[in-house]
Amino acid sequence: MSFAGKRIWITGASSGIGAALAEAFAAAGARLVLSGRRREALGAVAARVQPDAAVLPFEATDWAALPGVVAQAGAIDMLVNNAGISQRSLAVDTRPEVYRTIVETDLLAPIWLTQLMLPGMAARRSGHIVGISSVAGRLGTVLRTGYCAAKHGLIGYLDALRAEVEQAYGIGVTTVLPGSVRTQVAANALLADGSARGESDPNIEAGMAPSACAQRILAGIAAGEREIIVAEGAEAFAAGLRFSDPERLFDMLAKEGARLAAEREKGGRPEPADIGRTLAD
Ligand SMILES: NC(=O)c1ccc[n+]([C@@H]2O[C@H](COP(=O)([O-])OP(=O)(O)OC[C@H]3O[C@@H](n4cnc5c(N)ncnc54)[C@H](OP(=O)(O)O)[C@@H]3O)[C@@H](O)[C@H]2O)c1
Repeated sequence: MSFAGKRIWITGASSGIGAALAEAFAAAGARLVLSGRRREALGAVAARVQPDAAVLPFEATDWAALPGVVAQAGAIDMLVNNAGISQRSLAVDTRPEVYRTIVETDLLAPIWLTQLMLPGMAARRSGHIVGISSVAGRLGTVLRTGYCAAKHGLIGYLDALRAEVEQAYGIGVTTVLPGSVRTQVAANALLADGSARGESDPNIEAGMAPSACAQRILAGIAAGEREIIVAEGAEAFAAGLRFSDPERLFDMLAKEGARLAAEREKGGRPEPADIGRTLAD
């Protein structure tokens, strides 16, 4: 698939993977619509990668506003559902509102946006839906019960959607499962009380560069891959283990859960460990 001349709408384009995708798609000749909540940050990305890109800020969970936002976006060849928020808290401590925010942002918002695009794409017999899930959407890892629930759900939605629209309407559906990528994801992640963590963590700091992640995503979409795993080392190994030897994976992760619980019992903040032990946003 060529991206030249395609109109591509990227959510979460003000930061991290979304901003890197904007740069990569612009270089490949796409015409961009950039979304996120922060108009200024979106404008800065547009100024850098494609000054005449459309900037369309919106809050992903403002359900009432979404139909108007979709109308403003106009005809779109590819929707990239990338906006998301992570978590760093043990289930035993986490307030219900945290689950609501994460599931609404990471699962219901991409579903609803996709639903609003589908009738037009089906009528035109063309279009492409991309969803940025995570390695944490394949395996359930510590400190991320809400995030894993949402990201697993997104994989389920996209796989089921593909079955319904790929051959029937010629609509492509691509699911992306990144491992750790060096972005603001850990700093923006929610703690047990719903506040932002405010600082990065060792997994993310040791992660892949966003530009490398974006290049891999574009190459995968261009090659027609339906599921793109963008992970290396322990994270790629663990993603494979989820199917090849789940019992071994559950044991590894439960050991890490026991370490975190012991930290909690001592009154400390349960801190993510080194890369490969907590496994992926
Ligand atoms: N980095 C990783 O290691 C990693 C690994 C696997 C998957 N992912 C996934 O990759 C995606 C991008 O994350 P990132 O790593 O680039 O993190 P990031 O730097 O924190 O960027 C998150 C983006 O999502 C947008 N966003 C968050 N909440 C929103 C809301 N309620 N409404 C509208 N936009 C919202 C933010 O825009 P505003 O702040 O302007 O609203 C921002 O552009 C997420 O879905 C994340 O779960 C990341």
